[in-house]
Amino acid sequence: MANMRILVLLLSLLVLLVADESSAKVSAIIVFGDSSVDAGNNNVISAVLKSNFQPYGRDFEGDRPTGRFSNGRIRPDFISQAFGLKPAILAYLDPLYTISDFATGVCFASAGTGYDNATSEVLNVIPLWEELESFKEDIADWGSSNGAFATGGTTNFIGQHDCLEEYNNVALEFNGKLEGLVSQLNKELLGLKMLFTRNAYDVFHDIIRRPSQYGKLY
Ligand SMILES: *[C@@H]1O[C@H](CO)[C@@H](O)[C@H](O)[C@H]1NC(C)=O
Repeated sequence: MANMRILVLLLSLLVLLVADESSAKVSAIIVFGDSSVDAGNNNVISAVLKSNFQPYGRDFEGDRPTGRFSNGRIRPDFISQAFGLKPAILAYLDPLYTISDFATGVCFASAGTGYDNATSEVLNVIPLWEELESFKEDIADWGSSNGAFATGGTTNFIGQHDCLEEYNNVALEFNGKLEGLVSQLNKELLGLKMLFTRNAYDVFHDIIRRPSQYGKLY
């Protein structure tokens, strides 16, 4: 763990996989981002944007709302489990969180945040830069790292019943640039394996276009 290397990172906003160089196995998953990946940080801060009430969490172990914007677990939890790590990643601000959790993964995400500081200011949530600062502090506490990371992201502004084309185009353009940056960093930073996925955009887009394919329509 002393010489860990950040291996892959994906999307919306992002999940960092930290690999142990000796075994090349993923040893930790670090999560940054917004409501799509918040595991409960907003529960603890004074933000209005929370999901610590039912029916959130009704399919989570113990039938309890955790602060995840979901009926159960969220994507980073599934990714963690798929790598043989814990089935649910703890929020950094969770009272139960200790630095030893950092060894296998932690979530710094805050629902409602965005790349622009103004986004988090409006909703009084944790700005992205602060998520990264907390990560850096914990890395310092935990040990050295020769890591590098990148972000992936998508957004989808919804109008009355449809998407706003103009904003969608901005999201697509952003994703295109990000994809280019990821491929550039993979070439420049030896040992780094970074993955960009636009799944978040495509899936959301499809849900909005064809809601009936994804379950009950209210
Ligand atoms: C966001 O705010 C932080 C802290 O004030 C500042 O360091 C950073 O430059 C700001 N980012 C942008 C893009 O304005």
